[in-house]
Amino acid sequence: MRLDKYLVECGVGSRSEVKKMISSGDITINNVKCRDNTKSLKEGVDSVNYNDEKIIYKEFRYYILYKLDGYITATEDKKEKTVMELLPSWVNQKDLFPIGRLDKDTEGLLLFSNDGKLAHELTSPKKHVDKIYRVSLKNEITDEAISKLEEGVDIGGYITKEAKVQVVSEKEILLTIKEGKFHQVKKMMIGVGNEVIYLKRETFGKLILGDLKPGEVREIERCDII
Ligand code: URA
Repeated sequence: MRLDKYLVECGVGSRSEVKKMISSGDITINNVKCRDNTKSLKEGVDSVNYNDEKIIYKEFRYYILYKLDGYITATEDKKEKTVMELLPSWVNQKDLFPIGRLDKDTEGLLLFSNDGKLAHELTSPKKHVDKIYRVSLKNEITDEAISKLEEGVDIGGYITKEAKVQVVSEKEILLTIKEGKFHQVKKMMIGVGNEVIYLKRETFGKLILGDLKPGEVREIERCDII
């Protein structure tokens, strides 16, 4: 693979950024400075360094994003802004796609990868990955609604599987669900006579939003996910 392509694929920078690094003499291959961006190298064999940092080639990449309101979960769209637009230039977007889906107006944790096998595993109906949503409600939550949400709610011909409710305040709950049906949380709230006014996903499997700021992206490892 060409040196500039290798560096972009490793997430070191954009095409133009890595070309600058190479021409500035910041890159070495097997401890020899290389200013030729077209230099061919073998991934996993040749040792590439950016200044003193070893650059390791990864076939699969994983990132988490704190999604903002107003972006649809898709890789492209003719009319709407997509979540791909929230990824900064240092993220190598090649082959990357969102795993799981958040509504346009939902905020919070969204996972991206180029690992199709993992995507299939995480989104398969057989795989029960816990997701915690912070839900702000139009009306006060009642004990009856909590029982229904935890035991199963009819969301239009489908009864949701067991869930967990933690009450934060009269009009705010943390809801843990294992499924990911279309508009599931909003439909569950309608099913108990309430309405979502704000929705944020705070966890997905082992992943947590933590100190990630709105709009921020972080690279993570495969083992951080499940
Ligand atoms: N449930 C919803 O209703 N919307 C989301 O974005 C995620 C879960």
